Amino acid sequence: METKKRRVLVKFSGEALAGENGFGIDSSILGYIASEIKTLSESGIEVGIVIGGGNIIRGVSASAGGIIRRTSGDYMGMLATVINAVAMQEALEHIGIDVRVQSAIEIKEICESYIYRKAIRHLEKGRIVIFGAGTGNPFFTTDTAATLRAVEIGADMIVKATKVDGVFDKDPHKFTDAKKLDVLSYDQALKDNIKVMDDTAIALAKDNKLPIVVCNMFKKGNLLEIIKNDGGICSVVK
Ligand code: GTP
Repeated sequence: METKKRRVLVKFSGEALAGENGFGIDSSILGYIASEIKTLSESGIEVGIVIGGGNIIRGVSASAGGIIRRTSGDYMGMLATVINAVAMQEALEHIGIDVRVQSAIEIKEICESYIYRKAIRHLEKGRIVIFGAGTGNPFFTTDTAATLRAVEIGADMIVKATKVDGVFDKDPHKFTDAKKLDVLSYDQALKDNIKVMDDTAIALAKDNKLPIVVCNMFKKGNLLEIIKNDGGICSVVK
């Protein structure tokens, strides 16, 4: 009997791409993440990706000075996510992986526009699809965009790839006694303000019973381990 292929949506922040620089794109990190994604694709997993834009600009911070309105700041942030998407497309193609970028805002000269049915066809053909420009609307985070795309493409889970092993009861970088929570309910994630994702994203995941897996993507092989075995070192919100 043929087992159903796994389909996942991997979300990581733009800041992850900046590495030590804190800004822009560090090509060695870009290459590392691409190689981790490649292992998923080579294992037959269908992969959608959403990347944030915070390594270039964050809408909220851009508008904090009072000159740039939040709406414009958010659109600037959406453009930043397209820059990251195109960079990741290059990195994946560089190592022989088929990939398409689809943008929620039409930028035809640069990439395809987001078309749900086309995205599904790409995934079915084993191509990775990177979804750029968030939801195409201001006032939504890229976590919400990632959750929306995950639900749309019928992903088995959304993987929030971070630099920590999961969700902790307090900041593991500040407190040595921080405890990792292996499983949380959506309500816990919402109520405790644990900040796995913003409330809109968690509510959308809850309504659609989409598990949110929070894991460390900087441990080599961890992404594949977690997705393949529903295990490894991570936290799951479900
Ligand atoms: P199939 O139809 O399954 O063969 O998919 P395909 O993506 O290979 O075919 P298509 O002819 O749609 O696209 C060929 C190439 O052009 C791919 O790299 C697409 O990402 C790219 N492409 C398609 N539409 C657009 C667009 O509107 N803008 C840009 N910039 N590139 C596009």
